[in-house]
Amino acid sequence: MGDAKTALDLSGFSRVDATGASDRLVSYLEGAAVTLGQLRALRLALLRLTPGARAIDVGCGTGDAVRELADLAGPQGRALGVDLSEAMIAEARQRHGDSSSPIEFKVADARQLGFPDNHFDGCTAERLFVHLDEPARAIAEMARITRPGGRIVISEPDLDTMAIDTADRTAVRAVCRAFADQVRNGLAGRQLYRLMLDGGLDEVAVHPHPVIVNGWAAMNTLFPFEHFAGIAVAQGALSQESAAALCADLRARDAAGRFFGCYVVFVVAARKP
Ligand SMILES: C[S@@+](CC[C@H](N)C(=O)[O-])C[C@H]1O[C@@H](n2cnc3c(N)ncnc32)[C@H](O)[C@@H]1O
Repeated sequence: MGDAKTALDLSGFSRVDATGASDRLVSYLEGAAVTLGQLRALRLALLRLTPGARAIDVGCGTGDAVRELADLAGPQGRALGVDLSEAMIAEARQRHGDSSSPIEFKVADARQLGFPDNHFDGCTAERLFVHLDEPARAIAEMARITRPGGRIVISEPDLDTMAIDTADRTAVRAVCRAFADQVRNGLAGRQLYRLMLDGGLDEVAVHPHPVIVNGWAAMNTLFPFEHFAGIAVAQGALSQESAAALCADLRARDAAGRFFGCYVVFVVAARKP
């Protein structure tokens, strides 16, 4: 099984600066970007920004999407990235400080963003709500700072949708559950429709996107499978033997070119009335 001491703890995204491992969390984002890049393009397109727009990415991480927002908003617009983590904001500034477009990064908490009401034309977030334990509060803040008629687009996985083809369905369910439950709100994707309606938004449109994980290496980049197999064993949800057999089965399927895994990311767009 994976070494619990060296495996990346994804719950660290809720408190990046306290982990002392922000560099590893940045590397994780880099690895995941290979699989998730297209989804970002869809998320930003759904904001329907026009030149001169003011846009904000909440929980921006290393800020790559903020640069794209700046390109969409043009030289007369403004793109802002905010994140709870000082380390992430420092990384974002270092990466994108040379942008020719108006772009800015700030440390801020999604629960209390500190911008004026009705300030932005577009407000977005990706993979933030899976790390929040007060998602309704963050939605309320995003709605507050968006102007009437402005758009809010949030993209979140639902980690309980992970489907992996293997012989032992009981064992794989136990490992997937350990993964989904490690972060604060692993089922965020399915909650967005309700949360956005409850937050007073309208024209709420859900765009579900399957993400195919095409191999054991890709799976372990997004989802350190052996580590979570170890956690499922420690939780008593799975025997050591079943966990080892499961991992061996998945490696064998991969070697035979038969590995298949998939989960759903929900990109949800809405308008502030
Ligand atoms: C998985 S990363 C996603 C980063 C980026 N959105 C992306 O898709 O690459 C989650 C980010 O949310 C930030 N975060 C977690 N809790 C937050 C909060 N309460 N307010 C603002 N940002 C937060 C973390 O610091 C981290 O940078």
